[in-house]
Amino acid sequence: MLSFIFVFNLLHALNVFAIDSDEWKLIFKAATGGNGSVYELFTGPDILNVDNIHAQSLLQPVKEHFKSDIVNQWSELGISEVLVRIHNNGEEVAYFMFDGVGSNKTNWFSLARLKQSSYADLYNSSTNAPINFFSIIGHQKPSRRVYRSFYINSIWKGCSKDIGWLNILDVNSTWGCRTWEAVHLTELPAILYSPLQTGAHYEEVASALLAESMSVSVRFDRSNMTCVRMCSTPVQQDASSYCYKPCDSPSVIDVEQKVEQLKEKLTVDRKSTSMYKRSLRSVYENRTSAKTMGIMGAAIIASVIGLFVFFDCLRWKQNNNQ
Ligand SMILES: *[C@@H]1O[C@H](CO)[C@@H](O)[C@H](O)[C@H]1NC(C)=O
Ligand SMILES: *[C@@H]1O[C@H](CO)[C@@H](O)[C@H](O)[C@H]1NC(C)=O
Ligand SMILES: *[C@@H]1O[C@H](CO)[C@@H](O)[C@H](O)[C@H]1NC(C)=O
Ligand SMILES: *[C@@H]1O[C@H](CO)[C@@H](O)[C@H](O)[C@H]1NC(C)=O
Ligand SMILES: *[C@@H]1O[C@H](CO)[C@@H](O)[C@H](O)[C@H]1NC(C)=O
Repeated sequence: MLSFIFVFNLLHALNVFAIDSDEWKLIFKAATGGNGSVYELFTGPDILNVDNIHAQSLLQPVKEHFKSDIVNQWSELGISEVLVRIHNNGEEVAYFMFDGVGSNKTNWFSLARLKQSSYADLYNSSTNAPINFFSIIGHQKPSRRVYRSFYINSIWKGCSKDIGWLNILDVNSTWGCRTWEAVHLTELPAILYSPLQTGAHYEEVASALLAESMSVSVRFDRSNMTCVRMCSTPVQQDASSYCYKPCDSPSVIDVEQKVEQLKEKLTVDRKSTSMYKRSLRSVYENRTSAKTMGIMGAAIIASVIGLFVFFDCLRWKQNNNQ
């Protein structure tokens, strides 16, 4: 019987690894009308709403921001990819995927690191749309009382001809372009995005620019994640789950300890995982390596279980024969 317990423990432990390395971990969410500056929250040292599951929901619009401590530990965690998603009416309406390898808290959000996007003219463009802003700090102009963060913009031609993809009109703004931006000064921070397949001539689609939320999720380096140790520094992610700082060299994993401490985390992860799978149907999920690993893992586990069952049966048979 002990062998069965061991196998189940092993199963759980492996499951934890699979989730840790494959799933997008939500680490930040900015909400239109949320409390406080998006720029200051992201770049500052604070965390927010880590124990508030509603603030972390992308499906139900809750006007609260969320920030995990993972953002503050950015350079330490072996982040491989970063996904920025725009949500409206509980649905993903646009995304940007970035190369996160070797990046820090702020410099990952750049054109040079962009790998994929829902906007055809931004990623792999043949039209070569010009870009005048692509940064988290964006355009902050205290003298004009305008603060635009997470700003991806193409051209400025005097407000009425501005073209862009993303613009968070942040708190402290008291001015905005009259026809398409100033109307949102009553619900700052306001997340404005192009509702088209390309950058938008903002004024032409002025009534459709506002989004509910912008989220930032990350994926960790898989080879690094397989050597996560319980003894290394925990980083709080939400009320009941922790991410662990990857260690430098492969080490023996203490299965008993890991299972003991991650039992709670596992149940939380299972729930959010199925939710994620339902909400994410974009191209960036089409990775065969993850599936292959899953099948391989299942095959190995099955053969281990088979072996133990075989030995248990053998022992049982011997006992009965005596
Ligand atoms: C907004 O955040 C500030 C601190 O940043 C806090 O003092 C205040 O109570 C918050 N307001 C609401 C409505 O949550
Ligand atoms: C693991 O992460 C470190 C930085 O955290 C990186 O330098 C290294 O290349 C990663 N390992 C692999 C195999 O990619
Ligand atoms: C991130 O790296 C850039 C250089 O690419 C540097 O200018 C910036 O200060 C760094 N930011 C942080 C928060 O370390
Ligand atoms: C991007 O451009 C490269 C080189 O022009 C091409 O090989 C690749 O297929 C393009 N990818 C997409 C998604 O269009
Ligand atoms: C916004 O205003 C608050 C209070 O008025 C101030 O503390 C904060 O530094 C301002 N933020 C920026 C980015 O200027």
